[in-house]
Amino acid sequence: MTSTNIFRQNYKISKQNRNHLLKQTPLVIWLTGLSGSGKSTIADMLEKLLFEKGYKTYLLDGDNIRHGLNKNIDFSDEGRKENIRRIGEVAKLFTDAGIIVITAFISPFKEDRDTVRSLVEEGEFVEVFVDCPIEVCEKRDVKGLYAKARKGEIRNFTGISSPFEQPEQPEIHLHSDNSTLDECVFEIYSFIENKIEISKL
Ligand code: ADX
Repeated sequence: MTSTNIFRQNYKISKQNRNHLLKQTPLVIWLTGLSGSGKSTIADMLEKLLFEKGYKTYLLDGDNIRHGLNKNIDFSDEGRKENIRRIGEVAKLFTDAGIIVITAFISPFKEDRDTVRSLVEEGEFVEVFVDCPIEVCEKRDVKGLYAKARKGEIRNFTGISSPFEQPEQPEIHLHSDNSTLDECVFEIYSFIENKIEISKL
């Protein structure tokens, strides 16, 4: 069911006002990749780097968001679509608030990632493909989920019984299996550095 009889309100403080106050330009840095590819670790280190440089950031992470806002959502195709739709809307609110958002969700469907891209302003969405072969993710199996998925204890597991559609033209393509964590973080930082630069405002 959709809402009716609703009207957009305009308020006195704009996104531009907030950007000036915060002295930064918001972005959505969207990490996509298989479970175990390194998204959360890279997101964590990137946020630490930005924080230490004085930027205002927020990290949205799949496992954490699925404990709260999205705890009523499953891993069916429809569930994942709704998961990403909600995160996209949350990320949009954060950018409106002036914050640099880093997200770490598998986000396996191209269409859903593209929908988020179209929600925010041109140039604000930075898609980062954290590319790691499934064999490597499965070997690491930090959470023991691949083993469970192989035994059939978890249904619809990405890469095994549920698809992952690789990004075709991501802004950044990382190979987390043969780059160091520092290299991955630096590659993202180099790309976004002049977009968010404090001194520009
Ligand atoms: S997404 O596909 O909807 O984007 P999301 O990033 O929120 O996924 O959550 C992925 C995390 O949930 C994984 O890192 C893993 O820990 C856990 N998980 C539990 N069940 C599954 C499953 N069937 N497929 C993938 N990840 C799962």
